[in-house]
Amino acid sequence: MNPFKYGMVVSGKDFCGRKALLKQIGNHIISSQRVVVLGERRVGKTSTVYEAVNQRKTLRLLYVDLLGIKSVDGMCRRILKAIIVQEQKTDWFEKIFKTLAHLRPSISVDPITSLPTVSFDRSIELEADSIPEVFNLIGSLGKKQKLVVVFDEFQDILNLANAHEALALLRGEIQFQGEISFIFVGSIRHKMEEIFTKHDSPFFKSAITLTVDSLPHKEFSKFLKSKFSQGDREVDDEVLSKAFQIAENIPGDIQQLCGAIWEITAEKEMISVDKFKSAMQLIFSREQKSYENYINLLTNIQLKVLTAVAKEGGKQVFSVAFMKPSGFTNPSTVRRAVNRLLQLNILFESSGKYRFVNPFFRAWILYR
Ligand SMILES: Nc1ncnc2c1ncn2[C@@H]1O[C@H](COP(=O)(O)OP(=O)(O)OP(=O)(O)O)[C@@H](O)[C@H]1O
Ligand SMILES: [Mg+2]
Repeated sequence: MNPFKYGMVVSGKDFCGRKALLKQIGNHIISSQRVVVLGERRVGKTSTVYEAVNQRKTLRLLYVDLLGIKSVDGMCRRILKAIIVQEQKTDWFEKIFKTLAHLRPSISVDPITSLPTVSFDRSIELEADSIPEVFNLIGSLGKKQKLVVVFDEFQDILNLANAHEALALLRGEIQFQGEISFIFVGSIRHKMEEIFTKHDSPFFKSAITLTVDSLPHKEFSKFLKSKFSQGDREVDDEVLSKAFQIAENIPGDIQQLCGAIWEITAEKEMISVDKFKSAMQLIFSREQKSYENYINLLTNIQLKVLTAVAKEGGKQVFSVAFMKPSGFTNPSTVRRAVNRLLQLNILFESSGKYRFVNPFFRAWILYR
């Protein structure tokens, strides 16, 4: 079996390093400190928070993913679903079901995936005044056992039409839950900053910020080498540093690339850098459909700008040096295209530089 795991939460023996950060998060949890966890895509934010909670057996986790929420109704339903799934095997289950009876909750197991699915009456629209009720329920969970509530992709609250009102209500409720630890995880830095560092935001200065960075080369290389050796394969440092470089130091992408290398090699093989071509082609063949979907969303100008970022790197994209080789003369044309690429989540901005969210997409653009 392929020992490399990507696109999922990793824990236990699949979780590498981050000792100090885990300890820090653990201590904040114990003291019910509110914590913001920031980091780029696929760097390991969710895994780190899970691992910090899992390492302390007395903690109970309520994990709520807010990715893509569009309304208060959507947010409340996600939280309620998380509570029901979490409590389905406890003696509180009936009580919770009764409390939520007006929403006609039903729980079933999907026959294909075996995953529990929870649904509520669709004709009822939960409004902002449901937020206190939802937090009452969270509060009662917190009375049983030390509870950690994790809101993942928290920045997506800003998608709501009444985001400010929702944030104010959330903040008010959270303030009353002194015994419960709250962790807000986010990957879009400027949006998280808008929530936690803007003066007029209800969450202004309400939490300590921790950052999840790339894993240190040495520690992660050792971890990856041991995974290769589980499959009776050997890699040298040159291969690993090239993998780090192609995957732009993002742990999830490094694992994906190593997984592809693992698949195209055999037991007892000493892996060298000449394997990268086939490994990249394997990744491209699996991701091609989604790359093409992205390309179909772009105008010619946007695609030209994207190709230029892939070729030249995303620094100073409004300078003549960047624009001239691609035939652009007007910085506002480039700006509009970049804005669209940011909006589509193809590029992101980090320290004044535009980068591809997916480094393999960048490589594919250059290759095709
Ligand atoms: N500590 C770690 N040890 C080993 N691999 C890791 C570690 N952290 C992250 N990874 C790799 O990164 C992948 C993504 O991890 P995770 O989902 O926790 O990241 P994330 O930052 O929450 O991502 P997203 O931005 O998609 O929400 C994992 O599947 C794994 O391949
Ligand atoms: Mg995550």
